[in-house]
Amino acid sequence: MSGASRLNWDVAPAAAALSGELRVPGDKSVSHRAVMFAALAEGRTRIRGFLEGEDTLATARAFTQMGVRIEAPAASERIVHGVGLHGLEPAAGDIDCGNAGTGMRLLAGLLAGQRFDSHLIGDASLSRRPMHRVTEPLARMGARIDTAAGGLPPLVIHGDQHLAGIDYALPVASAQVKSAILLAGLYATGETRLTEPHPTRDYTERMLRAFGWPINFEPGLARLPGGHRLRATDVDVPADFSSAAFFLVAASLVPGSELVLRAVGMNPRRTGLLAALRLMGADISEENRTEQGGEPVADLVVRHAPLHGIDVPEVLVPDMIDEFPVLFVAAAGARGLTRVSGAAELRVKESDRIVVMARGLRALGIAVEERPDGAVITGGRFSGGEVDSAGDHRCAMSFAIAGQIASGPLRVLDCSNVATSFPGFTALAQGSGFGLRTAPS
Ligand code: S3P
Repeated sequence: MSGASRLNWDVAPAAAALSGELRVPGDKSVSHRAVMFAALAEGRTRIRGFLEGEDTLATARAFTQMGVRIEAPAASERIVHGVGLHGLEPAAGDIDCGNAGTGMRLLAGLLAGQRFDSHLIGDASLSRRPMHRVTEPLARMGARIDTAAGGLPPLVIHGDQHLAGIDYALPVASAQVKSAILLAGLYATGETRLTEPHPTRDYTERMLRAFGWPINFEPGLARLPGGHRLRATDVDVPADFSSAAFFLVAASLVPGSELVLRAVGMNPRRTGLLAALRLMGADISEENRTEQGGEPVADLVVRHAPLHGIDVPEVLVPDMIDEFPVLFVAAAGARGLTRVSGAAELRVKESDRIVVMARGLRALGIAVEERPDGAVITGGRFSGGEVDSAGDHRCAMSFAIAGQIASGPLRVLDCSNVATSFPGFTALAQGSGFGLRTAPS
C-alpha cells in the first residue's frame, strides 16, 4: 500500500540529552480487535485512543466495505454501528489488508464463518508472509481457504461452510493464529479449545469477555463455547507499549536523557522488553499504575544508564516479539555481548528482522553474528552511514534510535511504512530532541 513511495530519513546524533513528556499513539493490536468486535456486536461502540495507523485504518476500511457504518467524530475516535454476528455483507472487490499481518490473519478466521466469499490481499511484504499457520487449523474447523503457492496471500475465503470447534495445540506461540481460530470459533458449533506453547497477548480473549461472550481463559489456554452473541461496549485503547519501546531505548542510550511516557499499556504479555532492558542495567520506573478499559497502564520514566550485554532469557521472547529490532540497537550500544535465541519467528515478520537488523548494524561497524533463531551482538561504538530498513516500520524506527548515538550522520532508507504503526513518530522524536528529518528526495 504505502511501499510504493520511498521515504528516507536523515538522522543525526542527538545534540543534547533527550527530554520531555510524550504520549505515543494507541495500541495496534487492541485497535484492530476493537473494530472487529465492535462491527460484529449488536449496538454502538465508541472506541477512544484508536490508532490512526495504516494497518488499523485498513481493518476499519474492510468493515466499511462489508456494510458497517463507522464514524470518526474526532482524531483517534471511532463510533462503530455494529451489525451483529451475521450482519456483514459481501465486500465489493478485494479487501486490502495493506502491510498488516494481524489484519489479514484475524480477518481470515472471522470471514471463514460468513455466508459469502471474500478475497484478502496485501502489500509486497504481507504477500511474503506465511498464512498456512492460520489456514491449516481453520481448515480443520471446516473452513475453505485458498492461498497462493506456498501458503502465501492472497487468500480466497469460501463462505457458507459449516464450522465446528476444535481442540488445537498451537505449534507456534502466535496471538494472531490464536485469535484467528477464536474468531472462527464465534461461528462454530461446539467448543473451540486452544493451548499455546507459551502464553501470548490475550487481547482477543479479554475483549470477547468485555463484549459479553462467555470465554474461559488463563495464560496458555482459551476455551470458547459456540452459539453466543456480542454486545457493544465502549473500548479505551491504551498507548502502544511497542511504540513506547523506541523511546525507552533511545533515552537509555543518550547520555543525560530523561523521558516520561504517559499511560503506556502494560499488559504483561507485551512488556518483555522492560524486563530485558532492566537486566541490561536500564533505569526505568513505573508511576501512576492504573487500569484503562480493563488493561493495566502506567507512566514510564526512563533515564539514561550505561547498558551491558545479556543473554536474553528465552522465556521473555513471546512477550517482546515486536521489540527485537530495538533490542538489537540497545545491544549495539551496550558493553559486551548480547545473545538472542529462541526467536526464529523474527524471520517471518514484516521483514526477516534478523537479516535486516544484522545487515544494518554491521554497516555501522557493529559485529553481529546471525543465528537461525537469533543473533549475537557485540556492543561498542559505531559510525554513521547508510542502512536499509527494507520497508519494515520497526526496523526503520530502530535505526533512527541507533543514529542518536552514532558517531556521524546516518541515512535510513525506505521508512514510509512507519505510518502503519506509528503515525507522528518523527514529530514526537524531534520534540524530545532527536536529530531526525525526512531526507530530500
Ligand atoms: C500480534 C501478534 C504478534 C505480533 C504482531 C501483533 C497481534 O504476531 O508480532 O505485531 O496483534 O496478535 P504473531 O502472532 O505472528 O506472533
